[in-house]
Amino acid sequence: MADAHRTTPIKRVFRGTLIHATPEEAVQVREDALLGVGPDGKITFIGEGKELNRLSLEFSFSPTAVTQLEKHEFFMPGMVDTHIHAPQYSYAGTALDLPLLDWLNKYTFPVESRFKDLSFAQDVYTRVVRRTLRNGTTTACYFATIHTDSSLLLGHIADNLGQRALVGKVCMDMNNSVKHYKETIQESLEETRRFITKLLEKKYALVKPVVTPRFVLSCSGALLGQLGQLAKNNNLHIQSHISENAEEVKIVKELFPDSASYTDVYHKHNLLTNKTVMAHGCHLSDEELALFRDTGASLSHCPNSNLSLCSGFLNVRKVLNHKVKLGLGTDVAGGYSASMLDAVRRALDTSKILTIQDPEHETLTFEEAFRLATLGGSQALSLDDQIGNFEVGKDFDALRVNVAVPGGPIDLIQHEQPKILLEKFLNLGDDRNIVEVYVAGREVIPSKE
Ligand code: GUN
Ligand code: FE
Repeated sequence: MADAHRTTPIKRVFRGTLIHATPEEAVQVREDALLGVGPDGKITFIGEGKELNRLSLEFSFSPTAVTQLEKHEFFMPGMVDTHIHAPQYSYAGTALDLPLLDWLNKYTFPVESRFKDLSFAQDVYTRVVRRTLRNGTTTACYFATIHTDSSLLLGHIADNLGQRALVGKVCMDMNNSVKHYKETIQESLEETRRFITKLLEKKYALVKPVVTPRFVLSCSGALLGQLGQLAKNNNLHIQSHISENAEEVKIVKELFPDSASYTDVYHKHNLLTNKTVMAHGCHLSDEELALFRDTGASLSHCPNSNLSLCSGFLNVRKVLNHKVKLGLGTDVAGGYSASMLDAVRRALDTSKILTIQDPEHETLTFEEAFRLATLGGSQALSLDDQIGNFEVGKDFDALRVNVAVPGGPIDLIQHEQPKILLEKFLNLGDDRNIVEVYVAGREVIPSKE
């Protein structure tokens, strides 16, 4: 093993504070750590500063080539946005005055229909990938639109700018009031197959397709079933929405009277697997959460969206107690912010609202919210064997955070311990504090373009 190490060349070595989450510890701090990244972008070793001489011999790097972090800096894992609509970035920060179903018909579908136009798609998709990377989203799970070619373009842009991404061409053959924004079941299936084939042919290292039925109300049972089969035959990721808003849940129950629940509709169509991520789940019963747990399907908590569209509150404590995999999502543009730091804050706000309503409720801690934004997201997307925290063999997806960056949003009055620095960053920080972003060892921010 040691011999194998010695022959592995090292690309970068960093020295300083590492902060990450593990299944056992929501926030684990390693001060004065040494971390080596190989040319394949994977973490080659993690050691202590005092081991510099030994490690430099073992891994053949020069101690003078080590990048030293400053006093108020630390590395944390890149954040994972488990649910974001790339086309909706074009109207983020507006149109927050209607509940879900009216919001979809009045704002969302008309805007999404414009993404047939590849030059419009190129502009919006470049901006959303740039903006989210800049804000520390190293992995994003995207909904695109029904248009195959512009969905493929989103994959190309993510690959080019260096973001890890799951990209879904949206499928919808039902209940759409917008004339030019719907497909027949045949079109939906054929175009989904074409999308998956073409995207996989590109052999992007970090961009993969995800089967994307929009939600039950947009899809016939036949389409849901065929998509479940397609995902199963090709071992693909699946994403959709579930139990976001009370009216939606009621209509789903009316449309599928033979299913025990909303969750059961997806389950019956083979859409709940350990590579499935469902957004929201605000109104799920204990039985439905048990079905998530049993199938290995995960939830994406999108608190900004749930508040902005007055959809409901997800009880994260209940989800965690049921041992359902859980990540955070921005759900742009139902959520108005594309920043995962906002998702962390809104998740904490939502949990505090639940505590105001019921003082027995055990409020989410900032440490737990940090874990959800990083390791939790990687688990929700079944990527935790590759990303989510700092472990030898995982890809180096990381943010270099400077809490006291000049001109930044945080005043440090006195010297603080790393965990306090993390808390300040999560609550008060923004993209000015994220001085470097790495995805699979590649420095993507500052951009080299
Ligand atoms: N349910 C179905 N489509 C959507 C969407 O675009 N956004 C949200 N928040 N919920 C949905
Ligand atoms: Fe959504």
